[in-house]
Amino acid sequence: MITPSEQPRPEQDGATSAAAALLEARFCSKSYAAEDKRPTGTQPTLVLDSIQLQIHEGEFVALLGPSGSGKSTLLRILAGLLTPSSGQVLFKGVPQHGPNPHVAIVFQSFALFPWLTVLQNVELGLEAQPLTPTQRLKRALSAIDMIGLDGFEDAYPKELSGGMRQRVGFARALVVEPELLFMDEPFSALDVLTAANLRKELLGLWREQSMPTRAILLVTHNIDEAVSMADRILVMGANPGHIRVELPGLPLAQRTIQSQEHTKLVDLIYRIMTSPQEDIARLLPTHTPEAKTGPLTPAAPHPYQVLPHVSIGDVTGLIELVHARGGREDLYQIGRHLQLELDDLLPLVEATDILDLADTEEGDLVLTEEGRRFAEAGVLEEKQIFRQQALAHVSILRKIVQALQATPRHLLPEEHFLQLLETHFGEEEAQAQLETAINWGRYAELFTFQEDRGMFQLEEEGAPAPQA
Ligand SMILES: Nc1ncnc2c1ncn2[C@@H]1O[C@H](COP(=O)(O)OP(=O)(O)O)[C@@H](O)[C@H]1O
Ligand SMILES: [Mg+2]
Repeated sequence: MITPSEQPRPEQDGATSAAAALLEARFCSKSYAAEDKRPTGTQPTLVLDSIQLQIHEGEFVALLGPSGSGKSTLLRILAGLLTPSSGQVLFKGVPQHGPNPHVAIVFQSFALFPWLTVLQNVELGLEAQPLTPTQRLKRALSAIDMIGLDGFEDAYPKELSGGMRQRVGFARALVVEPELLFMDEPFSALDVLTAANLRKELLGLWREQSMPTRAILLVTHNIDEAVSMADRILVMGANPGHIRVELPGLPLAQRTIQSQEHTKLVDLIYRIMTSPQEDIARLLPTHTPEAKTGPLTPAAPHPYQVLPHVSIGDVTGLIELVHARGGREDLYQIGRHLQLELDDLLPLVEATDILDLADTEEGDLVLTEEGRRFAEAGVLEEKQIFRQQALAHVSILRKIVQALQATPRHLLPEEHFLQLLETHFGEEEAQAQLETAINWGRYAELFTFQEDRGMFQLEEEGAPAPQA
């Protein structure tokens, strides 16, 4: 059962919503301009759509979402490192401009300077503060001590394990005694045991109030991690990034992996994340009055189709697995069976959805009629079904085939389609979208693509005319 979180810190007394939030985002949107040399018709890409959120004193908030949903962008906006295209960020009720000195960030990549020692890296966190060298040294040593790096002051990052390096990352953030600690997937580059250990120690410091930090924001794509650590969980969706639902975390006693409530909440969030198109209200158990949904940030309808970057071989494997299990299977079981992290499974599920080979229903992946035929077909027929689905449902493939059919020699340079894609995507993503389209199109034998010349050509026998 989902209940409001126990208040882990004394400041948090349930009356927080009346007071100004420590940090607040009001209708923050972010678009990235297509920064390239072809200004004609290029439109900015919307990556965050009207985000509203509050972080209160004493709270540990998790921002959970698939990769590409704009978590890092939002974190940077909240920290004042990026300016929103519209909307504002308020710190203690005051609109912010520029980097917020009360926020410190721990990054996934550690972001250490290899030519500086542990001590020097940590002292760097204090660069902006008016301290004497002695005060700086004292503060740095105390942070090093607190985070368990005692004895490693003079070591260089390359001499340290990943876990120890991330400790330096934490020490450098905590040394500034920030009111807000932000973490962007801080554990995801570490092996499982090291990550578990560091999580536990961080929670210890937080709960014992060994650090002066007043609130924590954790960005993650790991559901277990969010459920084990957070008082409140914001689940994001992609294209454009928006907050789909806000869920209360579990009471402290239920946050251990073994509790039934933990498993239930992980399962619920898994269902939510694997059903990106589903109305949240339909996924929530009826007794979840604390969950806030929908109106938080209504997502604009997808302005264009975004292809997930997966190979068709993997899509085929997924379809065959579901077929072998009777045409319907729980996504959580699929993930376990294929040993795929949710972040790797989601793009595959999305591909089967786009191609109309499968649908998600209540946390299950269910084959469509075409999906079943696809799974039962031999190699030749499989390609044929794929081609038919691709032409019917993948707009960039349809456009490529139509454009090739319309040219005399059925030949076009990739530039032609890159320009088209760059009206919706930034330069890099446009390139990635085209590469995925090439992979899928080749598999479907819709066209050939000559890497060296960068030329598309219609397949010899000519692809079937796409339906208008
Ligand atoms: N500097 C940038 N220019 C253009 N697009 C960007 C830039 N930074 C991020 N994006 C795009 O914004 C989207 C969200 O990215 P990001 O915030 O990194 O997501 P997440 O952290 O959830 O994986 C992605 O589609 C990414 O390609
Ligand atoms: Mg990120």
